[in-house]
Amino acid sequence: MVLVFGDRAFTEDFLAQFPHPVSHIAHDVVTATAALREQPSAVEVVVGFPGNEGIEFAVHAAELYRDRRFHLVLDDEDVSSGVWARAAARGIRVVGRKSAVADVAGMVGSAPGSLTSREAVDPPVLNAAEDEYLASKAAALRTLRRQRLSVYSIKGGVGKTAVAVNMGVYAASWARARGLEYRVVLVDGDIGGSQTAGDWLRIADVPQNLATWGSINLPGWDTVEKLLVRHSSGLYFLPSPPTPVEAEKVTGDLMLHVLGILDWYFDLVIVDMGTELKDDATLVTLQTSSTVLLIVSQELGVVRRTRRKIVDHAARLKINLAALRVVASRTRPGVPYGSSNIGRALGVASFPVEIPEDPGLLSCLNNPDCDPMVLSHPDSPFAAGIVALTGAVLGHEMFCSARGGKKGIMSFLDRFRPRRNGSRFLRKG
Ligand SMILES: Nc1ncnc2c1ncn2[C@@H]1O[C@H](COP(=O)(O)OP(=O)(O)OP(=O)(O)O)[C@@H](O)[C@H]1O
Ligand SMILES: [Mg+2]
Repeated sequence: MVLVFGDRAFTEDFLAQFPHPVSHIAHDVVTATAALREQPSAVEVVVGFPGNEGIEFAVHAAELYRDRRFHLVLDDEDVSSGVWARAAARGIRVVGRKSAVADVAGMVGSAPGSLTSREAVDPPVLNAAEDEYLASKAAALRTLRRQRLSVYSIKGGVGKTAVAVNMGVYAASWARARGLEYRVVLVDGDIGGSQTAGDWLRIADVPQNLATWGSINLPGWDTVEKLLVRHSSGLYFLPSPPTPVEAEKVTGDLMLHVLGILDWYFDLVIVDMGTELKDDATLVTLQTSSTVLLIVSQELGVVRRTRRKIVDHAARLKINLAALRVVASRTRPGVPYGSSNIGRALGVASFPVEIPEDPGLLSCLNNPDCDPMVLSHPDSPFAAGIVALTGAVLGHEMFCSARGGKKGIMSFLDRFRPRRNGSRFLRKG
């Protein structure tokens, strides 16, 4: 079994060509550490974090996880004799970026080398060393990359909307609390669906909706802002049309048009989707998202149907399998099918995160004074799942508030270039 860690560009490239199943992907060191802990049987570990970060992580992890084989992927110019020596001392294989796929594939299944068969580290020592490492990583290592994230499942009621809404309000309020100009928008892409995203946000009967964007061309930020609804968390929201007649107007072309505009102005565009692949708006969203969370319940029938409907037909549907990430939702203790098991069964990568069944969710939804769970019940199991998932998706240590302090926030802030309203649109246009 193989774990692949690295920035989004690296992991996507790698997955697109790698011929073996990959059990976990991580874009940040917190998620990578969780994957190492949870996957004791994964022998091959590919580390492709950019520059020094990859070297540092590989050296740290190889010291602690001595029964794994680490492949450190580096650009040729980053390979110095010093790096070779540090890596070799811990049994880490240094591989070139261009040949990484072939190099790692060639090693899968072979016996671990003598350098990696050092005596195992005691679990308490390992945990303490990891905590120290993660705390020192609290400072941000990468900027938050812009992305389009869609939340999809083949089955209704598995928690897509609950996940999409809570990730949206969490990311928006997290950024806002730190004074960051990081804009998040949630699109209710469940056209003609149940409109539960609006229920969660307590937003109903507003004139703004997807169908009204048809006649909008090259809007400035002021116009865009008026065409969206703002939630108190800082999240922007675009509802789906309230009537079937208006829902008809939301074609695949319109969806692409709207998402294209939102991409200009927002750092994170989250689309809460319906289940119907025959709907063009749903299909184009799946095809064009940088990450698709494939929400799956712990039912074998659902897993099988997910394979038949999506995975087996990905090529025909023009869906990029490398963009899919399995997330098990509404999980119950004692049921063995978690995200990684389901991901393996589907041949799709997963994040080492699960969204547990949480009875508090429905009471919160039905209580008009209750904010979305992740804000109103931050200590609930559901909120913990959302925090971990947001961190895993955005590849950012700062999102994992449970670990690490607030050190390094200034250097993190420096990474955000000042932006005037609309300037990004003009720059790109
Ligand atoms: N993790 C969870 N724990 C407990 N209840 C949940 C959980 N996730 C969702 N629910 C409940 O299940 C119901 C359906 O959830 P949600 O609307 O998020 O599903 P969905 O996948 O978006 O459904 P649809 O396909 O109809 O859009 C809601 O009542 C919600 O409160
Ligand atoms: Mg829904």
